[in-house]
Amino acid sequence: MNSVLARYQALVANDELRPDAEQEAAARRLDVLQQELEATPSRGSVLWRALGRQPDPPRGVYLWGDVGRGKSMLMDLFYDAVDVRRKRRVHFAEFMLDVHARIAVERRKEAGDPIPPVAEALAEEARLLAFDEMMVTNSPDAMILSRLFTELLAKRVTVVTTSNRPPRDLYLNGLNREHFLPFIGLIEQRLDVLPLNGPVDYRLDRLGRMDTWLVPNGAAATEKLSAAFFRLTDYPVEDRAHVPTADLDLGGGRTLHVPKALKGVAVFSFKRLCGEARGAADYLAVARRFHTVILVGIPKMGPENRNEAARFVSLIDALYEYKVKLLAAADAEPADLYPRGDGSFEFARTVSRIEEMRSEAYLAEGHGG
Ligand SMILES: Nc1ncnc2c1ncn2[C@@H]1O[C@H](COP(=O)(O)OP(=O)(O)O)[C@@H](O)[C@H]1O
Ligand SMILES: [Mg+2]
Repeated sequence: MNSVLARYQALVANDELRPDAEQEAAARRLDVLQQELEATPSRGSVLWRALGRQPDPPRGVYLWGDVGRGKSMLMDLFYDAVDVRRKRRVHFAEFMLDVHARIAVERRKEAGDPIPPVAEALAEEARLLAFDEMMVTNSPDAMILSRLFTELLAKRVTVVTTSNRPPRDLYLNGLNREHFLPFIGLIEQRLDVLPLNGPVDYRLDRLGRMDTWLVPNGAAATEKLSAAFFRLTDYPVEDRAHVPTADLDLGGGRTLHVPKALKGVAVFSFKRLCGEARGAADYLAVARRFHTVILVGIPKMGPENRNEAARFVSLIDALYEYKVKLLAAADAEPADLYPRGDGSFEFARTVSRIEEMRSEAYLAEGHGG
């Protein structure tokens, strides 16, 4: 069973997914794309030469909708099903880091416009690019996207992407947005834009009514958080010893090891995230990359922990800014975490953010800046 539609329908038939008309429609569209991609002859094939020109590359798909609508689930089903050798699935924020790194290398060669050779290399590596969570939050990205994607599409790359917003709302209120508008035009013209925005937030469903701040640290909290991790990622509990890890690219050649990372959900210990020298940029990288962070081992802090407390404030700011969902185990309620010490007065703002992050309204919001 190799088609994305057949796989989707089987999951519904087995009660692993609830029937959802918009998802079914998206699965049908992705199924067509799968057939087109699989029918496209490989480069240099006799058929191309016989035709005298290259056939048009298949049109891509842009899936958008609120959090928990099944965008990533469908894209992953499609990506796994499609029989294409040169394919790449990447979180959009990580892709942009990679692009900027490649552009920097090209610039050093002082050989003119760096974008065409970067696009050329990317197109050489993958004729199918699948992006999860396309969002544009900074001006350096916004300034190059239109030219980069024009080149990629011209080089016959097919793009599939998910996003929390329709194309017209990307980089909304961004600096110099007028330079970004051609990118929106390009997406609307060259990709099929499909809403996946039904009434049900399946992720929220899976969180249930669980309290997301568990006190105290210990076996009971660990058990609840671990169950939430498996529910959110559809990972088989029997296989708990083999949950994938990740090395998050922090830029500048640095990485952060994530001991458990799957489908946008990451697990960290407080010690790892706030006990070592880290700064806001690292926390923003975490916040961009993961829609849900499970943080365990948050201690009660005193005056001697002012560095940890300051880093924790900066972590919460980043998670909050990107509307990341936080599931935590701590030795105290937020208001009692850091009662005395440098910055404990300002800590009140962090406490109120954490309280808001526990609310159902916050949990229902989409990931993104
Ligand atoms: N039709 C469905 N029935 C039950 N669960 C679903 C359905 N669609 C998606 N899910 C689950 O809901 C969660 C959120 O889906 P996901 O694809 O991550 O959403 P999005 O990318 O739109 O935020 C995942 O665990 C996914 O497997
Ligand atoms: Mg998603």
